[in-house]
Parts: sequence; C-alpha cells; structure tokens
Amino acid sequence: MTDRYAVIGNPIEHSKSPLIHAAFAKQTGETLEYSRLLGNPGEFATDVREFFSRGGRGLNVTVPFKEEAWQLADELSHRAKVATAANTLILLSDGRIRGDNTDGVGLIRDLMTNHGFPLRSSHILLLGAGGASRGVIRPLLDENPASLVVANRTASKAVALACELGENGETEGCGLDDLADRQFDLIINATAAGLDGKVPAIPDTLLTTRGWTYDMMYGNEPTAFVRWGLERGAAKSLDGRGMLVEQAAESFFLWRGMMPDTAPMIQALVSYPSISV
Ligand code: ATR
Repeated sequence: MTDRYAVIGNPIEHSKSPLIHAAFAKQTGETLEYSRLLGNPGEFATDVREFFSRGGRGLNVTVPFKEEAWQLADELSHRAKVATAANTLILLSDGRIRGDNTDGVGLIRDLMTNHGFPLRSSHILLLGAGGASRGVIRPLLDENPASLVVANRTASKAVALACELGENGETEGCGLDDLADRQFDLIINATAAGLDGKVPAIPDTLLTTRGWTYDMMYGNEPTAFVRWGLERGAAKSLDGRGMLVEQAAESFFLWRGMMPDTAPMIQALVSYPSISV
C-alpha cells in the first residue's frame, strides 16, 4: 500500500501543502500520497487516530489544531515541547505518535539560508504573542541576535511570553505603544492582523535604514505588512511563502529521511493564491 500523509486543519481547502509535498515526492523519487483532511472541531483526536489506523504514516497539522496535536502526541521533540504546539505528527514503528514543530526552523532557514539575513548581529522585533509568535521565539533566540523584542497589542501577553521563553532576560516583551523611538534591523509580523488586510498599529519610524520586514503570512498579492515595509524603505520585504515551503521540507525530511530542494517550489508558489498552510 502507498504510504499516506495528509494535512489536517479547519478550514483546509486552501492549503498548499498537498501541492508542495507532491512536488517534493516527485523531486526525490519517493512514492507517497498526500491529501487534505478537514478536521472536525472537538474530534481532532478521533480524526487523527482513524487516519493512522487506516495506513497513515504522517500528518501536518494546521490552524486550529496545533495545540491539540501537541497534547495528543505520545512523545515530543524538544522544539515542539518548547513551542507547546505540533505541526508535524509521525507514526513510529511501535505505533506511538511523535509530535514535532518545523515552523521555527522554516522561518530561520528562509531568512538565513535563502536570503542571507544576518540574524546574529541584528536587532529584531517580533510582532504578536499568539501561537505563531510562540513557535519562532526560541529558534530566533538560538541564533543569538543582538536583541529580540516581542511586542503585542495586548502587552501583558508579550511580557508573559518573553518571560517564559527567554532565559535570563534574553528577550523583552512590551506593548505596541512602547515602541516609539526604537528601531530594528528586522521586523517580523506574527499577528493575525493581515487576515483583515490590516497592519498592527506601530510607529512609522521603526525600521533602521536598509532594515528588513518579514510577514509570516503570504497571499497572491503582497500582504499589507509587506507593503508597509516597502513603503518605509525596507531593503527587503518578504512574505511567508519561503517559510511555508521550508517547514514543509523539514516535515518531509522527518518522514522520509530526504531533504528536498526548496528553491523551485518557492518560485512556483509565486503564482498561487492563499494564506493558509
Ligand atoms: P496565531 O496562532 O495565528 O498567532 P492567535 O493566537 O489568535 O493566532 O494570536 C493572534 C495574534 O495577532 C495576537 O498576538 C493578537 O494580538 P492580541 O493578543 O492583542 O489579541 C494579534 N492581532 C490580531 N489582530 C490584530 C490587529 N488588528 N492588530 C494587532 N495585533 C493583532
């Protein structure tokens, strides 16, 4: 029987993961099936167990089930433990389910490997304090940036997240209102504001000369935050397409032991409309 994989989420119809994994399988000569699964609210565990009992080998998990996937896993990678969310489930040979999280490594690889951004020497601002932000804080800190500030509309959430994930004050949490007079080499948008075509309420002067902006979302058109960066002179203003493909490649590697070449897929996605993993 062909090895079966899927992405589970709700909604799921716009997910580009099947397209990406089919391309990876073709490129690496692996034989597998990869489909979309519409997860039912309140029945996530049942849906997952049924998938694995019918020959499923691995799942990608997207909104709103990443925390439930984390809870359901019988064992977790270190990075999934820290993120308290799993976007990849792997069926182990003894029938147990392992949870991992490839979102952080996806962002880091896109920034550093694909675009050559010097995280180590940079002052970074991360906007948002929800699940998307939580998943990338530790991976960013592990690159030893000059500084990392987490800012959120609800300041208390950013403060709590920075305290929890940054050891010995490695990172600072604050409100969007506290950003006046500050400047950053890289501003990453991990808020959900873009879903309404909005940008978080931040000062116009936040970016250093030649600074970069990065929106973890992407769409067919440049996102509101990508435009915000371009209009304020960003040397590069990137969307989350590269992160999407890189996190998929890492999941593919976890399942199949082969790392696909991501560049052709990132290029191909330029013409596909979606903001959903
Ligand atoms: P996700 O898992 O995608 O991160 P989430 O947990 O619902 O989703 O978090 C959404 C994040 O986007 C939060 O940081 C939220 O800010 P609040 O904590 O203040 O709610 C942020 N967000 C959503 N809409 C926003 C907007 N219009 N402006 C600024 N921040 C916004």
